Amino acid sequence: MATLKLGAATLKNGLLLAPMAGVSDASLRALCRRMGADMTVSEMVSAKALCYEQKSRESAPLRTAPLATVAESDAPMAVQLFGSDPDFMREAAALIATGTYRGATGPLPVAIDINMGCPVHKVVSNGEGSALMKDPQRAAAIVSAVKGAVTLPVTVKIRAGWDNDHRNAVEFARRMEAAGADLICVHGRTRQQMYAPGSDNGIIAAVKAAVSVPVIGNGDLFTSENVLHMLKVTGCDGVMIARGALGNPFLFAEVAALLEGRSYMPPTAEERLAVALEHAADMMRRKGERVGAAEARKHMAWYCKGLRGAATARDALMHADSLTEIKSVFDKLLLEETR
Ligand SMILES: Cc1cc2nc3c(=O)[nH]c(=O)nc-3n(C[C@H](O)[C@H](O)[C@H](O)COP(=O)(O)O)c2cc1C
Repeated sequence: MATLKLGAATLKNGLLLAPMAGVSDASLRALCRRMGADMTVSEMVSAKALCYEQKSRESAPLRTAPLATVAESDAPMAVQLFGSDPDFMREAAALIATGTYRGATGPLPVAIDINMGCPVHKVVSNGEGSALMKDPQRAAAIVSAVKGAVTLPVTVKIRAGWDNDHRNAVEFARRMEAAGADLICVHGRTRQQMYAPGSDNGIIAAVKAAVSVPVIGNGDLFTSENVLHMLKVTGCDGVMIARGALGNPFLFAEVAALLEGRSYMPPTAEERLAVALEHAADMMRRKGERVGAAEARKHMAWYCKGLRGAATARDALMHADSLTEIKSVFDKLLLEETR
């Protein structure tokens, strides 16, 4: 696989951590980078909310800006914008690309990504996310507006189409390329499929064959075999891992080792839970103990998957309010595991 370049970034193995709202925060991004992801993407950021927030009172708490900030530990990172209004998208992209919004900290992002895949009703009912795949003209207007406002690469994340009768990813991707997109990520499901099993590698291959910008494949990458298979059958330039990284950031280390011809030793249960604990500690450090612990619970439960006694541990984790409590659940789990 040839090395993939995106603006200032060289993505050695073409391994990206997917944007996941409410999940792929700075802690998960930093952890996945450390494990071997070449690049990360922010959680989706509302272009409109960012623009309005900039005009709010100086003393008003910033809720949207923190989602767009990049840290050294998760760079190179793209910031993903969602919206349906080219003017808001242009304005938000310019603020983010130059780091000139209130609340900006850290390095600049490596690219601006545009969300054309979100299936959530609240989003598509505003003509945003995957609804843009039903309105290629508007989608193209957004890409060219953003492209005209920033010097960074502009990437788009699309689905196979809206539903089975409208699998327009190929024509749509060509149109986004013509509008100025520098990279296209394809999730091989329609909006109608939401996240149901059955992502289609065929449509990723078809997009790859149809455009000359790099194509990143996404959908159902849970094991290193899934990743190698997608790379082989689609010819895509890289992959974006989403749910496969939850409780298993080690997947990046495994795939990177395989692609680089190195041997790989999977973590023991003890090593896995030690990383989980570091993950929780990092979330608490960044968000404060109360919010960090509450948000860490689901991640901690994902790390327990497959271990003996995981169901009981998951129940106990749902009440854990501190690192000490999480650690005591893990200690019991490890005892169970070694019995
Ligand atoms: C909890 C969750 C949140 C997500 N949030 C976003 C998002 O903010 N932006 C986006 O483009 N995709 C989002 N996605 C979609 C993923 O990036 C990815 O396209 C999808 O999960 C398919 O990959 P997978 O089958 O490997 O999970 C989200 C997915 C999940 C599970």
